Amino acid sequence: MGKVIVVTSGKGGVGKTTSTAALGAALAQRNEKVVVVDFDVGLRNLDLVMGAERRVVYDLVNVIQGDAKLPQALIRDKRLETLYLLPASQTRDKDNLTAEGVERVISELKRHFDWIICDSPAGIERGATLAMRHADVAVVVTNPEVSSVRDSDRIIGLLDSKTLKAERGERMEKHLLLTRYDPNRAERGDMLKVDDVLEILSIPLIGIIPESMDVLRASNIGAPVTLADARSAPALAYFDAARRLAGEALPITIPEEKRGIFGKIFARRAA
Ligand SMILES: Nc1ncnc2c1ncn2[C@@H]1O[C@H](COP(=O)(O)OP(=O)(O)OP(=O)(O)O)[C@@H](O)[C@H]1O
Ligand SMILES: [Mg+2]
Repeated sequence: MGKVIVVTSGKGGVGKTTSTAALGAALAQRNEKVVVVDFDVGLRNLDLVMGAERRVVYDLVNVIQGDAKLPQALIRDKRLETLYLLPASQTRDKDNLTAEGVERVISELKRHFDWIICDSPAGIERGATLAMRHADVAVVVTNPEVSSVRDSDRIIGLLDSKTLKAERGERMEKHLLLTRYDPNRAERGDMLKVDDVLEILSIPLIGIIPESMDVLRASNIGAPVTLADARSAPALAYFDAARRLAGEALPITIPEEKRGIFGKIFARRAA
């Protein structure tokens, strides 16, 4: 049976869709069978980041409403054989997602995939609670700024009360993915430091993804950053986060300022 992951945040625009695509691809690059599911009904973004927007025929709502069978809606990635996308509908709204329908789709996906990664919409409303409902594990995406941390705190509260796991009295496994981390701004005090975020949210860190143009470039060509530029700093950070998700214990590294590294090398040479 597959593991269900929800990628959630509360606040919008923090990097959920980017992270869903990158983690999904990173796991598939390890030959795991992965489906990424877009729960952001009405916006539909994951298909763009995955480069599959022209191949969408049926979507999650069609499957829930019985207009299509699950295999008709699943889109296999052109680059990775073990990576699939279940897209969201751009034309319907979130009310078309029913709790029973979502349950049926997730349990069918669990029989066929190792990982089911659900990209949550922003907010704390119905769409977000449906996306997290069946999760075994939550990846809470947070930017190092006060408003994002505050919203993540609210999402953590929902994960501990509104999920099936929570209702059964089981512990919900939660991981913090700190994204768009800019070491220069953290150093200047314009952003929260990693320790500050960890102290407030007190859930274990699964990775720190640096703010990087490589992410924008990947998204512009319709590829998860781990496929578009596998050696870039954000891709390496996502690969490590995926390994931690799969249970490996790896030390976390805080992205360093580039000039800082050169500075250090220079200083060592000079010494
Ligand atoms: N590490 C990063 N470096 C630079 N830009 C990033 C990074 N991560 C995400 N972005 C950019 O931030 C924007 C928002 O990212 P994304 O769509 O993944 O967020 P989201 O949380 O899914 O948003 P929404 O709440 O609207 O669904 C995008 O333009 C994306 O390319
Ligand atoms: Mg999104």
